[in-house]
Amino acid sequence: MSDKDVRKGLAGVVADYTAVSKVNPDSNSLLYRGYPVQELAASKSFEEVALLLWSGELPTPEELADFETFERANRSLDPMIKAAIDLLPLDCHPMDVGRTAVSVLGAAHPLAEDSSPEAELNKAKSLFAQFPAVVAYDQRRRRSLALVEPRADLDYSANFLWMTFGEEAAPEVVDAFRVSMVLYAEHSFNASTFTARVVTSTLSDLHSAVTAAIGALKGPLHGGANEAVMHTFTEIGIRADESREEAAARAKAWMEEALAAKKKVMGFGHRVYKHGDSRVPTMKGALEKMIAHYNRPEMMGLYDGLEQAMEEAKQIKPNLDYPAGPTYHLMGFDTDMFTPIFIAARITGWTAHIMEQRATNALIRPLSAYNGVDERHVS
Ligand code: COA
Repeated sequence: MSDKDVRKGLAGVVADYTAVSKVNPDSNSLLYRGYPVQELAASKSFEEVALLLWSGELPTPEELADFETFERANRSLDPMIKAAIDLLPLDCHPMDVGRTAVSVLGAAHPLAEDSSPEAELNKAKSLFAQFPAVVAYDQRRRRSLALVEPRADLDYSANFLWMTFGEEAAPEVVDAFRVSMVLYAEHSFNASTFTARVVTSTLSDLHSAVTAAIGALKGPLHGGANEAVMHTFTEIGIRADESREEAAARAKAWMEEALAAKKKVMGFGHRVYKHGDSRVPTMKGALEKMIAHYNRPEMMGLYDGLEQAMEEAKQIKPNLDYPAGPTYHLMGFDTDMFTPIFIAARITGWTAHIMEQRATNALIRPLSAYNGVDERHVS
């Protein structure tokens, strides 16, 4: 085996077919089951997008109504899950809470060991409905606040915000949150989705695959980047009384210094997109609406300053995490809840891939090139 046979990071390797989504880096486009993601973000609820990802088609009004009824009936935090969360330290990372909660939900699911297509879809829908309560309760317990029960009169996004903050969010805020969920839902063979497919390929169960995917998503080179973006903003200094121009100037100076020190700045760059992330314009639009809603122009200054300095120095474009981080911050989420929100969105894509992998399964087991010591013997 020669060096050219080794594809470090599997870069450029096409590992399988998928009909769930298509990423086209040349045209900066992303299609979910054939539909451009920005069209879905413009007009579809997250519930509709979830059904599209799972079944391949947008739902009929009856299918949507059935799913909404199911989702609203399964939103409450199960007392067993709450008890498991309460056992975890308040200073552990919320991704650890999310990972543990999914594992416990799997242990408790009556169809845990049933991998028929019907059972898989049922488990995917259950996780979709159950996970927001995990994120919402975790943020509240860290703030010494009590659990807020879900409201069946609110849609998924409005209820997620309600359970987190205990008050009804403004329609613009609900909509920006919905847009972020649609954009985060699916992205082909990214690291966490591939992890879920690897686990499924051994014929393990759906909750094990999602639990493993959460572990992969936690890393700052993947989902953790949206939190890291906010840490950058905080390091530069968020000054609500500053003008957009002043903030941009400080952000530019920070970026120039960071790049001179050869730092990797989170929220920029992408393994697949080299000319810009297809999801960024839509998410940036949602961020701009939040900037206007909360009257925080200086946050846009920080955003622009970093982006411009990176463009001038290295022509590296922002990825989805870049506008998503400040959007969630403005809504009031704690920074380390950003990646758990990403879990709630990506549960849809992960489970669609799990079902696809199972339907066309081949065990995923690559080879390695050995570069350790030569054979030797115990004397
Ligand atoms: N900040 C500074 N430089 C960056 C960079 C960033 N965010 N992303 C890439 N680069 C530079 C690399 O240092 C490298 O420069 P070099 O050729 O001088 O060594 C070059 O661009 C190529 O980057 P590379 O890391 O090989 O690209 P990749 O395809 O392996 O990595 C990422 C893609 C996403 C891992 C990488 O861009 C990154 O670490 N980004 C920050 C994390 C992030 O935002 N992740 C979320 C992804 S959605």
